[in-house]
Amino acid sequence: MKISRNAASVSPSVTMAVTARAKQLQAQGVDVVSFGAGEPDFDTPSFITEAAVKYLHAGRTKYLPASGDLGLRKEIARKLKDDNGLSYEPNQIVVACGAKHAVYMGIHAVVDPGDEVLIPTPYWVSYPEMVKLVGGVPVIVETKPENEYKLTPEILKAAITPKTAMLIFNSPSNPGGFSYTAAEMKALGEVLKGTKVVILSDEIYEELVYGDMEFRSFASVCPELYDQTLTVNGLSKAYSMTGWRVGYIAAPKDAAKAIDDMQGHMTSGPATFCQLASVDALQKGQEEIAKMHAEFAKRAAHICKRLNAIEGVTCAEPTGAFYAFPDVSATYEKLGVKDSVEFCNKLLEEAGVACVPGGGFGCDRNIRLSFATSMELIDKGIDRIEKFISGKK
Ligand SMILES: Cc1ncc(COP(=O)(O)O)c(C=O)c1O
Repeated sequence: MKISRNAASVSPSVTMAVTARAKQLQAQGVDVVSFGAGEPDFDTPSFITEAAVKYLHAGRTKYLPASGDLGLRKEIARKLKDDNGLSYEPNQIVVACGAKHAVYMGIHAVVDPGDEVLIPTPYWVSYPEMVKLVGGVPVIVETKPENEYKLTPEILKAAITPKTAMLIFNSPSNPGGFSYTAAEMKALGEVLKGTKVVILSDEIYEELVYGDMEFRSFASVCPELYDQTLTVNGLSKAYSMTGWRVGYIAAPKDAAKAIDDMQGHMTSGPATFCQLASVDALQKGQEEIAKMHAEFAKRAAHICKRLNAIEGVTCAEPTGAFYAFPDVSATYEKLGVKDSVEFCNKLLEEAGVACVPGGGFGCDRNIRLSFATSMELIDKGIDRIEKFISGKK
């Protein structure tokens, strides 16, 4: 069959490839420790699932407005105000099928064919592919290890051209596990002020920040850029609701209308009972979020300490999300591998540990380990990595 140029330009997800190979080995009876997960290892809190069942039994199984249930949009507006200091009317919010589709629609609403979209490394694998899908040009902006892989004002300034339509900003970062401070965001905002560049701020890991790091929403740090910011968030990671597919985008009125119109012809939004139960989650979920957060914080410190104890491995302590992103490039020569893909393949086949190569995120010196897995499995996996790198039996 003829495949469109845009569809053919899309690359398969590297994260999915590793997870698929790990599952294949597991199915063959191989004991694999997987650090590949992109989702919390906790069940969705039971009060949320019970709420969804209640809505199903109450017959809440029909269409909702394409932009989402009004009650949910009001609750999201309340959350954005109370937690982030952002003012959005419910009609500036569109509920989407996960933060993923919210990001996609944000890009679709702004980017014309040929427009450039700045994507700092290390980036979530889907960003460049989404840009290609709408005919845009992903411009991968190299960051530096000495800046903890964060975008700096100088690097940003040098990347902007007359064709730049958007910057995709993600803090806390997948896969970097780092977060930007308010001062760092402010400095980036100064560069964007006076330009037409739209900032798409993907804040899906908002609830997962550690240590002294405080989460800040981009538009709250740079209120002067409110009219050029799209804020994306959702319930997947904070509430362990990845399969529910509830995300959202908050936008200036004209952009929100365009996104609402698009969604009316695309998905019509997530399932009705999932949206309704999301209101319960947002209203009553803080205690459950805090429990999961405490566990992730312990794991972040532990995995980082254990990785840094391995010769040839350096890892910054994660300040956000649930990923460690160590630089393992000092081991490549000794192990006879040329890049992060070969490193991860060898590690999986010889030591039974699944990690995601940083090459897929634009950082070939690094690998990504998700610590959305138990302490016991973290230790088991790191013991194996240690032996694999040292060559000791
Ligand atoms: C940075 C980032 N944005 C968005 C998403 C998508 O989230 P959702 O499951 O809500 O679509 C992910 C999921 O892995 C992510 O890592």
